Parts: sequence; structure tokens; C-alpha cells
Amino acid sequence: MENFVFCNPTTLHFGKNALDGLKEVLQHYGRKVLLVYGKGSIKKTGLYDKVMGYLNEVQAEVFEYEGIRSNPVIEDVDIAAALGRKHKVDVILAVGGGSVIDSGKFISITIPVQHPAWDFITRKAKPEKAVPLICILTLAATGTEMNPFAVISKHDANFKDGYGSPLLYPAHSFLDPQLTVTVPRNYTAYGIVDLIAHCFEAWFGAGETTLSDRFIISIVQEAIKYGPALLKDLNNYDLREKIMYAATMALNGLTMQGKKSGEWGVHGIGHILSLLYDIPHGASLTIVYPAWMKHFQERAAGRIALLGSGIFNESLTAPESIKRIEDLFRSLECPVRLSETGIVTDKQKICETLGINKVSGSNYKLKEEDLGKIVELFL
Ligand code: NZQ
Ligand code: ZN
Repeated sequence: MENFVFCNPTTLHFGKNALDGLKEVLQHYGRKVLLVYGKGSIKKTGLYDKVMGYLNEVQAEVFEYEGIRSNPVIEDVDIAAALGRKHKVDVILAVGGGSVIDSGKFISITIPVQHPAWDFITRKAKPEKAVPLICILTLAATGTEMNPFAVISKHDANFKDGYGSPLLYPAHSFLDPQLTVTVPRNYTAYGIVDLIAHCFEAWFGAGETTLSDRFIISIVQEAIKYGPALLKDLNNYDLREKIMYAATMALNGLTMQGKKSGEWGVHGIGHILSLLYDIPHGASLTIVYPAWMKHFQERAAGRIALLGSGIFNESLTAPESIKRIEDLFRSLECPVRLSETGIVTDKQKICETLGINKVSGSNYKLKEEDLGKIVELFL
């Protein structure tokens, strides 16, 4: 096991009516609030009115940035940051799923500077401070509510990837599973498979930590037990609660302690499918993961078999494990081949864009030849 320092500075407010605590938290951060949200779901669900009610009660001066899209783009970050900078906001309140929260994270480090957010990604600049970020999560999936990562696209640079900085931890995240009851069936499923994929990325990382491995198996088992049930009963609070808790724990550091690294090759390839074809993040992962495991099934045979045997609680070989994982993704109504999305795709373009983004894996290095074979397996 590796030595490690574990500090997760995000305060999590979890459970039914967790938002009751929002007003008190807001009062600690000053009156000027930049409210960031997506394409309208929070208006349809009534959450927008509720949040505005709280903001009015604390006499906040609110500046709004609406319209963050799924698979968010850096252009929105720069415009929202300019708004926040102009009005010298004290705090950012991001209300939505991973796309909104990730954008809020980039906005938080871009407000204090005079250059575009892109300069952080190209490493031309390093963030030195951030406007505090408070999140209200409405979709259980990414784990962004309690981690230091943000994922963004820039289409004219053919780019989608993650970025990490300790400054990106939200100060507070409010997670009320009731707020996820309106998430449509497809995005509910994409969230479940995303949390499973985060566990897999930790599992296939470098280094040995038996306790972290047990955490991983337990989190995936929760998803396997309650995920399919949730798809049959989308209004079920108890099931929403279990999936929301699992999704946060799947990528908040818990599964990674004592390891040298995670893997993240599948996420890197998945991001390219989302960039090129606007495929929802979770669906990109169920397309790539079986292909990635098939490609590495000899080299990672022991690890794949151990994962399959652990999560399904029976003795399985590597090929059997891959088959069961693919069946699991299918049972969660997610695509396991790119062709199942109905999108017309172009292998050469995918490979070129993987090259431009330098997708190279971590513990299992991906050379050009590996990438070509994996793409072939998931087309
Ligand atoms: O835009 P609105 O109107 O809000 O609608 C959203 C969007 O259409 C809708 N939605 C969200 N909450 C809802 C709801 N609809 C009804 N009721 C609700 N309560 O759902 C759609 C998808 O939302 P989005 O935020 O895009 O989904 P998700 O949470 O899966 O986030 C995906 C993004 O996060 C990145 C992904 O790459 C992708 O860009 N990731 C971020 C990570 C991180 N920061 O740690 C890790 C992940 O691996 C992932 O890469
Ligand atoms: Zn993910």
C-alpha cells in the first residue's frame, strides 16, 4: 500500500430536505451570488423557485447564468466568469448535474483571473484562488459534488478532458435524493453506470489496497442490487437515496487511498465519443468498458476475474466476468456498442481525435495500436 494524505474539504449535506440547511450556509459567504444552472430542468421541477426563495430570504443579490449544456463547453465558463467578475460575486451556487457543477468549478477559478479558462487546461496558467462554490446536486452520477475534478469540452480544439486542482472541491454540496426523482429514465441509468465505471477505474489502477478494493466491490454491489430496481420504479425515494450515496462515494477519494493511481483510459476514450457525437457520458462508458476489458483480458485476467467474482458474488473467469458486466450494462438499458446508438461513426476520425487528446491510459498504457483495436471492438 502507498502512503497517503486524505483530505476531502467538501461539507456534504445529505438526505431528505437537506436544502433546509442552505440559508445558514449561504449567510457565511456574503450577499452577492452567481447562480449557475442548466437548460431548464430546475425551472420545470420547481427547484429554481425554491432556491430563489431561499436566496431572497437571505437578501442575496443574485446574478444568473442559465443554459449550461450537457457535456459542457468552455465558452460558457468564460462568459459566466466575466459576469461574476464584473459583479464581484462572493460565492457561486451551482444547481444541477455534473455538467453544471463542473462548469461552476471552472468558473470559480476563472473569476479571479484575467485570462480565459482554457489557459488552465493548456497549463499556461495555474489557478491560485477560487471563489467558493456551493452545489445543489440534481443528478446522481459523476461524484463531482465531492471531488476536485471538472470535465470540459472545447470543440474548436477537438478537446474534452478532465482537469484537477484542490481548489475545485466544492465548499458545500447539498444532496437531497428527492431532487433526483425527476431525472428521466435514460439519465438515471447513465448515472448508475457512471458510478460503476468510476469504481472500475479505481479497481484497474496501480497499487494494492485490499480495503479500497472492498469499498469498490461494495459500491458496485449497491448499484447492481438497487440500480435495476430503480429503473423499474423511478419515483422510489429509498432507491434514489441509495444510488445517490453510492455515486458520491464512488469518486470522492474513498476508493483510491493507498493506490498509486486510478486507470481512466476508458474515461479518456469515452470523452472522445461524447466530444464527437454528443453521447451522454454514462453511455460512452458502457460502450468502451467491455471493449477495453476484452482488449486487456489476458494481461488483466486475474484482476478482471476477481472483479467479476466479487461484484456478482460467484466464481467467474475473466471472459465470464466481461460477459456478465456487458449483460449488466444491457440490463440497465445502456448501449454496449457504438452502432447501438444509431449514430453514423467514423473510425479514422475517432482514432485521430484520440491522438489529438493524447488519450494514453494510466496503469494500462494505450498506444495507437491498442486504441485502434479497442475502437474496432466497440464499433
Ligand atoms: O440541463 P438541465 O435542464 O439541467 O437538464 C439535465 C441534462 O439534460 C438533466 N437533469 C439534471 N438533473 C435533473 C435533470 N432532469 C430532470 N430532473 C433532474 N433532477 O439531465 C441531463 C444530464 O445532465 P448532466 O449534468 O449533463 O449529467 P451528468 O451529471 O451525468 O454530468 C455529465 C458531465 O459530467 C462529466 C461528464 O464527462 C459530463 O461532461 N463528469 C464529471 C466528473 C467529475 N467532475 O468528477 C467525472 C465523470 O466521470 C464525468 O466525466
Ligand atoms: Zn464518469
